[in-house]
Amino acid sequence: MKGVILAGGLGTRLHPLTKITNKHLLPVYDRPMIFYPIQTLINAGIDDIMIVTGGNSAGDFLKLLGNGKDFGLKHLNYTYQEGEGGIADALRLVEHFADKQPICVVLGDNLIEANIRGAADEYAKQANGAKILLKKVPDPERFGVPVLDGETVLKIEEKPKEPKSDFAVIGIYFYDPTVFDVIRTLKPSGRGELEITDVNNHYIDKGEMTWGELDGWWTDAGTFESLLRASNMVAETGANKL
Ligand code: DAU
Repeated sequence: MKGVILAGGLGTRLHPLTKITNKHLLPVYDRPMIFYPIQTLINAGIDDIMIVTGGNSAGDFLKLLGNGKDFGLKHLNYTYQEGEGGIADALRLVEHFADKQPICVVLGDNLIEANIRGAADEYAKQANGAKILLKKVPDPERFGVPVLDGETVLKIEEKPKEPKSDFAVIGIYFYDPTVFDVIRTLKPSGRGELEITDVNNHYIDKGEMTWGELDGWWTDAGTFESLLRASNMVAETGANKL
């Protein structure tokens, strides 16, 4: 399985921090944010990785990461997203890299405490379709939220005013190669983006979506509050434990 980290977008919720640099280069405790999703993939046994960047300071990713030597990698792949067309727009750019293989996609501002190797191994046994990971949160309205009927995910609602469960869909997704055909069918949402939630709902409608519950803590780091929380979580308990 190949790995993809989405680190594009303009990070406008973090202005002025992101006015002259990319969100994923900002510090989270003692490391730049982008170090955490890279480690998430490596810990899961995925070492063929593509980073999608964009906006400001794209060249700084090369200066910081090079070919990934500090992570024990021989090589890292990079590509550039023009503008801020959404998560699915960024994912669209990795079709040639994926090369008809399954992929694990990690949002560049998502940090986790535990290892997703178990979920990756489960997905590897799944013949096709997609897999998402859920986590109970106090503020589901900030995220994609699953509508559940027992163990079945009926659909996902993106940032619903009245969430129908306490779960957030975290920013780690597993997809088969048909994901790029799905993206080609998408229309921009109300916020003008190609939404990853629309991709996931497509797989749900086809009956090709599985889900698991993430162990350990999870946080995004795309707002002032969550960026501070991410630093505190890492300082207190560490991240990406094996
Ligand atoms: O953090 C998990 C949540 O991420 C999910 O629960 C939501 O369903 C999903 O839509 C997403 O929500 P956000 O609105 O918080 O995503 P955000 O716009 O902050 O983008 C998350 C990452 O995706 C960002 O760190 C970089 C990447 N991205 C985003 C956009 C909009 C790109 O690479 N390109 C983009 O154009």
